[in-house]
Amino acid sequence: MGQAERSERVETVPEGFAERGWTIRAGGKDDLPAVVEVVAEALLTKEEPGFWVDRLDPVLAEDHYGRQLLALETDRPGGAAESGDERLVEGGRVIGAVNAFSFRMSVPGGTRAAAGVTGVGVWPTRRRRGVLTALMRRQLADIRDRGEKLAVLWASEGAIYGRFGYAPATSAYEIGVEAAHARLRPDAPRDPGLTTELVRVFRARAALERVHAAVADREVGRVQRSRAFWDTTLRDTPDSRQGRSPLKAVVVSGPDGPQGYALYRTGNREVYVQEVLATAPAARTALYEHLFSRDLVTRLVFTPTSQDDPLRHLIADPKRLSVTFDDSLWLRLVDVPGALAERSYAAPVDVVLEVSDRHAPWNEGRWRLRADRSGATCEPTEDAPDLSLDVSHLGAVHLGGRTLTGYLRSGLITEHTPGAVGGLDTALFRPDAPFCDLAF
Ligand SMILES: CC(C)(COP(=O)(O)OP(=O)(O)OC[C@H]1O[C@@H](n2cnc3c(N)ncnc32)[C@H](O)[C@@H]1OP(=O)(O)O)[C@@H](O)C(=O)NCCC(=O)NCCS
Repeated sequence: MGQAERSERVETVPEGFAERGWTIRAGGKDDLPAVVEVVAEALLTKEEPGFWVDRLDPVLAEDHYGRQLLALETDRPGGAAESGDERLVEGGRVIGAVNAFSFRMSVPGGTRAAAGVTGVGVWPTRRRRGVLTALMRRQLADIRDRGEKLAVLWASEGAIYGRFGYAPATSAYEIGVEAAHARLRPDAPRDPGLTTELVRVFRARAALERVHAAVADREVGRVQRSRAFWDTTLRDTPDSRQGRSPLKAVVVSGPDGPQGYALYRTGNREVYVQEVLATAPAARTALYEHLFSRDLVTRLVFTPTSQDDPLRHLIADPKRLSVTFDDSLWLRLVDVPGALAERSYAAPVDVVLEVSDRHAPWNEGRWRLRADRSGATCEPTEDAPDLSLDVSHLGAVHLGGRTLTGYLRSGLITEHTPGAVGGLDTALFRPDAPFCDLAF
């Protein structure tokens, strides 16, 4: 994207933004304390900002410094803040920030680059003046410039991100079961050649990483974990324990190495399982058998789990499971034609979409999506639309975990050609439920 378009983009910030002396720029490592102070205050965290600086620094350093977008305001009446570290130190003050990680995410069709939006916050006395809107718009343009076609995030509140084109695209559930009913079906797959070992987490790390990488590569919605995110996942300090035991790792191995693992803590007579991953069904059975066999336990909790988690099928009495909705990862198509063209489809489709997108105008307009099992194209067209919808609806269905038919029934999208929505849903179908196991 050229310089002219960049300038035009900055002018799209809300009215009054510039008059207040506010500007946006990409930040860097030196800005981290100021950014953290804003976000920690906005999110009402109980820790001092320094606590988060210490934890975030290594994670951020690994993959994406320079992606912090800051809204700066000047403390000089009538003056306009300029970008640059010097100006920030002299007088400009950070009043809002958004950030993003560079992820590789499994989507229908393979693993793709995705921006993992995080660190969203606006200083409490500067809310509802368009700071977040300006940051979101600028960030979308930056993500597009980097060639990432998708953005994902976890939403603290469901009312914030729909307006920016994001929609819930995965589902996660907490499963609970009383220990007295924690029994597997007799025909659960078993392999006597597997061994099960409870090991210190730091000793198990290589095995964990190997199993996770293989599973994340093929399960839609999962993200490959960087070294720093493994550090975060396995962090075992009093604050990460939340009153429970140190983190435990149980690893199941076969002749060719590790085939599965579970990470869990104990406390209050509960086994609290944060991950069960396996590359072979029998390894998964062995993991459940270990978890179910712990003595002095009254209840087991598995969270997060996917909508089609195998435990739901393997438990001897499914009615004994208590299943509660946990959360959804939100997804947005940053580049509509690019993302649709590189997705795979379960059935042929030829449809003209009329897309509205308030905050990423390059996606607006009519697109003809043609796809079959061998590939897809998505090109601009002047043809009459078969359906009209918002970019957020395409985000919701991109991983196959939602249907456009649901939105049609709700009256939120318009079908001009009868059957167009159902046909597109058939093409977007995925047999597996999308699930993301990374908190960021
Ligand atoms: C959420 C937050 C970032 C919004 O920032 P902001 O600068 O006040 O947002 P804007 O002024 O750009 O508001 C944009 C629109 O979203 C709406 N909006 C913003 N936050 C909202 C919320 N929590 N619930 C409902 N609507 C919200 C505004 O009313 C406004 O609507 P309008 O365009 O119809 O007038 C800010 O309130 C904040 O920092 N909250 C606490 C931290 C947090 O929740 N961060 C998100 C972590 S995932």
